[in-house]
Amino acid sequence: MPSLEEELFPSTPGKFKIDRGHSMNRQFHRCFASTSTMFLWALFLIALTVSYLSFQSFVDSGSRYFSASWGGIQWEKQVRNSAQIHRSGGMSVLVTGAAGFVGTHVSLALKKRGDGVVGLDNFNNYYDPSLKRARKSLLNSHGVLVVEGDLNDGKLLAKLFDMVAFTHVMHLAAQAGVRYAMENPNSYVHSNIAGLVSLLEVCKSANPQPAVVWASSSSVYGLNDKVPFSEADRTDQPASLYAATKKAGEEITHTYNHIYGLSITGLRFFTVYGPWGRPDMAYFSFTRNILQGKPITIYRGKNRADLARDFTYIDDIVKGCLGSLDTSGKSTGTGGKKKGNAPYRIFNLGNTSPVKVPVLVNILERHLKVKAKRNIVDMPGNGDVPFTHANISHAQREFGYKPTTDLQTGLKKFVRWYLSYYGYNNRKGLQ
Ligand SMILES: NC(=O)c1ccc[n+]([C@@H]2O[C@H](COP(=O)([O-])OP(=O)(O)OC[C@H]3O[C@@H](n4cnc5c(N)ncnc54)[C@H](O)[C@@H]3O)[C@@H](O)[C@H]2O)c1
Repeated sequence: MPSLEEELFPSTPGKFKIDRGHSMNRQFHRCFASTSTMFLWALFLIALTVSYLSFQSFVDSGSRYFSASWGGIQWEKQVRNSAQIHRSGGMSVLVTGAAGFVGTHVSLALKKRGDGVVGLDNFNNYYDPSLKRARKSLLNSHGVLVVEGDLNDGKLLAKLFDMVAFTHVMHLAAQAGVRYAMENPNSYVHSNIAGLVSLLEVCKSANPQPAVVWASSSSVYGLNDKVPFSEADRTDQPASLYAATKKAGEEITHTYNHIYGLSITGLRFFTVYGPWGRPDMAYFSFTRNILQGKPITIYRGKNRADLARDFTYIDDIVKGCLGSLDTSGKSTGTGGKKKGNAPYRIFNLGNTSPVKVPVLVNILERHLKVKAKRNIVDMPGNGDVPFTHANISHAQREFGYKPTTDLQTGLKKFVRWYLSYYGYNNRKGLQ
């Protein structure tokens, strides 16, 4: 009886050859089978890793953009309370960007006159989020809830419109700032384009449709040098990505007005300043640096010309926002269908008296009682424009817009707030 070894490896030469062939074949098959098993395992592991990584990035982007801190019975109650109207003929307004500079002031003004207000903000870290949190606390203490969420979270927006029949949307959420676009261009697309469309989609489908008033920007005038800037001037030469996204917003909102009958009012704000302002803006960072004894950089335009801005005090902007909301007219669609023509309006909201930046610094020095260390440099080509100057006659005619605060007075109020907010209270001499 052949041994097992012989069965496997018989010694007859001829057979050996043949059997050896078989055996090699078998080995090859075994080997191939184990390689393909290994290959399948490797594939499985790769697939596992890929799905883990994409899940992680989904969670990451989700937490970056949709940190969902909403939902639940208690939350719904808070939303409804915040939206409650307390005056006859009042409105209920969804204010996006409510924890932002302008959003906070507009929300407070609406609430104070008895309108219902629900805020929305994603509390991103473009600038110190603790300032946004402090504004949120201020709003909470006046009965305004700021929901933490992103414009691109369609589910959240739909839920809010399910719960509240908003008569108006005051859309102020955006990626602001001109220079930051060179660092993070996608944030402008995310908030100013995709976020805007996401919001308009929900507005157009709402029943009733709200009237939409939203913040465009004076930056749409770009390289326009015809002064003062009027709404009829060219706006097709933006000097920054920020300006381009605001201009795109004007076209996008026009489409929703045309197809779905949404009432649209676009507001071109001119350099807004004041208490609770934005730390990325020059008047704010100048104040910080002057107080800390650090130099400030002042840009100079072509031929050493000083830059000038039509600085507009926040209270005047708030009046312009409320005037726009009050005169916005109704949307004419319902549930995504247009029933008639709705208004499409654009207004400049400025101060109509531009001030040169070095003059702004002089005023700050006087209010702070500290000399600035000036570092004057040529303006880099980073999206800034040499001057802005608003023609406001359109807003004047439509809702009596009339700014009343000059830069001297407005900066005094800003400085007073700044010193108190950042704990410079024990400084003497500020009037
Ligand atoms: N302040 C000015 O001088 C000025 C000038 C022209 C136009 N504007 C426009 O006015 C509006 C308000 O400006 P501001 O100075 O109050 O700016 P801000 O940055 O203080 O306020 C904007 C708020 O929107 C929030 N936000 C941004 N993207 C969001 C998103 N995707 N989802 C939810 N929230 C989001 C931010 O967290 C921020 O709190 C903006 O649209 C801005 O572009 C401002």
